[in-house]
Amino acid sequence: MNDFIFKENELYCEDVPVEQIASEVGTPFYLYSLATLGRHFSVFNESSKVLNSLICYSVKANSNIAVLNFLFKMGWGADIVSGGELFRALKAGVDAHKVVYSGVGKTEGEIEFALKSDILMFNVESLPEVFLIDKVAGRLNAKARVSFRINPNVDPKTHPYISTGLKKNKFGINIKHALSAYETAGELSNIDVVGLDCHIGSQLTEIAPFNDAVEIIKELLDKITAKGFNIKYLDLGGGLGITYENEMPPHPSTYMNSIKKILKGYEGRIIFEPGRLIVGNAGIFVTKVIYNKDTGSKNFIIVDGGMNDLIRPALYEAYHEIVPVIKRDGPRAKSDVVGPICESADFLGKDRVMNSVQEGDLLAVFSAGAYGFSMSSNYNSRPRVAEVLVDKDKFYIIRIRETYDDLIAKETIPDYNYNIT
Ligand code: LLP
Repeated sequence: MNDFIFKENELYCEDVPVEQIASEVGTPFYLYSLATLGRHFSVFNESSKVLNSLICYSVKANSNIAVLNFLFKMGWGADIVSGGELFRALKAGVDAHKVVYSGVGKTEGEIEFALKSDILMFNVESLPEVFLIDKVAGRLNAKARVSFRINPNVDPKTHPYISTGLKKNKFGINIKHALSAYETAGELSNIDVVGLDCHIGSQLTEIAPFNDAVEIIKELLDKITAKGFNIKYLDLGGGLGITYENEMPPHPSTYMNSIKKILKGYEGRIIFEPGRLIVGNAGIFVTKVIYNKDTGSKNFIIVDGGMNDLIRPALYEAYHEIVPVIKRDGPRAKSDVVGPICESADFLGKDRVMNSVQEGDLLAVFSAGAYGFSMSSNYNSRPRVAEVLVDKDKFYIIRIRETYDDLIAKETIPDYNYNIT
């Protein structure tokens, strides 16, 4: 089932022609389907019912407040990694008691904000961090619920930039130091140790690394429990992959059932932090062809969307399918689809064989709903693009396109007193 479909030769999002949206909002823009989002929500939610679970959507994947609000209304919580994400999540209506806070560099101000908001727990990534949380909680007369993020040293077999559970990564506590970390935290008067956490990486397409990690975590859980800790929450992070090209990631229910087997007998709540799986294929990026350029050795399709809008190809050499919004007949040619940014890494696709496109044609870049807009920037002084959400035959602009004024809105020219001598 797909909500980005061709009717005749024209791409629709649900019941709305993509070209119609482009003519009203301009290009480039991100386009999300509420039907797809809802379906992904339901599949994950239903699959998780074999366990006593709490789903905390990973806000970083797509943090538009309309997307967040939809998922929170359905009962999910949030996995956050910054004060800014906490702010967004609260504005979008999250229940603070369903918020978990990960990240290696939580600052004192962020910790205070989270404690005052009474979030469910901090996923602590180092001893200095738990000492700081203890100090801030003491100052606020609060008790901080914490879990330790453990680095199980498992290879997730994904891109090196998005693997997090190897001992060479900066994330989590070395499994060898885990027990003593729990003992240390158990002594702190403003800390309530309630959980155990792990997240080994993103875009995992095999089940084995998950199983390996959960087995390691289960063994540790038993040891921690034997020391008298009551681990009410076991947070297994996110990471389930999606199909960009021809990957065949495991279905969420396969994943849940195998976790259920490994964790047999555990009576606490199991937390999941899915991100990409929920939003990745619920969104596309729409961009317009500016020029066709033949350099004599290569064809370039130059489009108005660049690496500042969608950085995944540049950063991870990620593949995103690119398809003309209106299919034309005509000769097929091999081209690189590139943006206007002054960087050679500014490409959306390389060596793509497509029917020839003309200036003004629209291209759809698929699987762009996760880590698309949320990683975008103003590089080359390009206003950030619009985001649009479709619900059946209606579309809603859920983020208006930035203007040139927005680019400089926070900047000032100081009245300095420097003279060239
Ligand atoms: N929980 C934690 C602690 C995480 O660090 C992440 C992602 C997630 C959950 C969600 O993982 P997901 O279900 O989305 O795989 N920018 C990269 C992905 C970075 C992932 C960072 N952490 C990309 O575009 O592929």
